[in-house]
Amino acid sequence: MNRIGWFEQVEADVPAGDSWLCAREVARLAGYRFAKRRSDWRLGRWTAKQAVCAHRGWPGTDEVLAGIEIQTAPSGAPLVDELSISLSHRAGKSICALAEFPLTIGCDLEVIEPRSDEFVADYFTPEEQISVLAAPIAVRARLVTLIWSAKESALKALSVGLRADTRSVSVELDPLRVLRRDATFTGWWSQTGSMLRTIVARDPTGAGEFEFVELRAYDDERGQGSVDRVGQDPGATVSLG
Ligand SMILES: CC(C)(COP(=O)(O)OP(=O)(O)OC[C@H]1O[C@@H](n2cnc3c(N)ncnc32)[C@H](O)[C@@H]1OP(=O)(O)O)[C@@H](O)C(=O)NCCC(=O)NCCS
Repeated sequence: MNRIGWFEQVEADVPAGDSWLCAREVARLAGYRFAKRRSDWRLGRWTAKQAVCAHRGWPGTDEVLAGIEIQTAPSGAPLVDELSISLSHRAGKSICALAEFPLTIGCDLEVIEPRSDEFVADYFTPEEQISVLAAPIAVRARLVTLIWSAKESALKALSVGLRADTRSVSVELDPLRVLRRDATFTGWWSQTGSMLRTIVARDPTGAGEFEFVELRAYDDERGQGSVDRVGQDPGATVSLG
């Protein structure tokens, strides 16, 4: 079974100081001019480092966190030693998904909100547009957000982001999958309040099933990071009601 862990944090979780960043990260942070970018970047790095600790069963002390460098690839994708990793931050919240190599993964966090017909016409494939039109009005905002988020997750997994045409990947529901001509990603999603998260994963060796698991931070009493709860099974019906 291929295990994909995910971990979320909010801005209030991030310490004011930077002693949990390594020297190269401090230098990178200093290069960001805008306060919003700095706080999003810090939130993402904090979440990613905590996720690595939760995955490995390490305590999240400043010393341990500063020893985990989250690098940035030329594409903008985050990189960390010996793991596949993906990040998203939205509205003061951040998610990090991670898995062992050779899995390819991507994740995205979105606020469920109405998006225009023009948005759907511009960014969705004809099949996706049909499924949106067929959906009851009451669930349309959630469906559009889900399709959009699954696309972003897949484009992150492919390391291209929105440089690529969003219609180059197509989202299928029930079960959630994202298809490109040469690759199929297994998808998973869940919702908390108005926030919707998606994760997609692919095993380039073609092997195995996937499980998507929420991680919990290291706990002194239990002595190791542990699984909080298991998410929706991949393949489960996309219940939009
Ligand atoms: C990847 C992308 C789709 C994410 O956009 P978003 O919805 O605004 O932001 P999210 O919070 O969901 O994700 C941001 C994270 O995606 C990750 N990311 C960025 N580029 C990525 C890429 N090419 N592949 C995979 N992940 C990427 C980063 O970790 C980034 O957070 P960080 O910069 O703080 O490390 C978008 O940034 C993109 O397309 N980037 C590539 C094109 C580009 O650089 N354009 C310049 C701005 S127009």
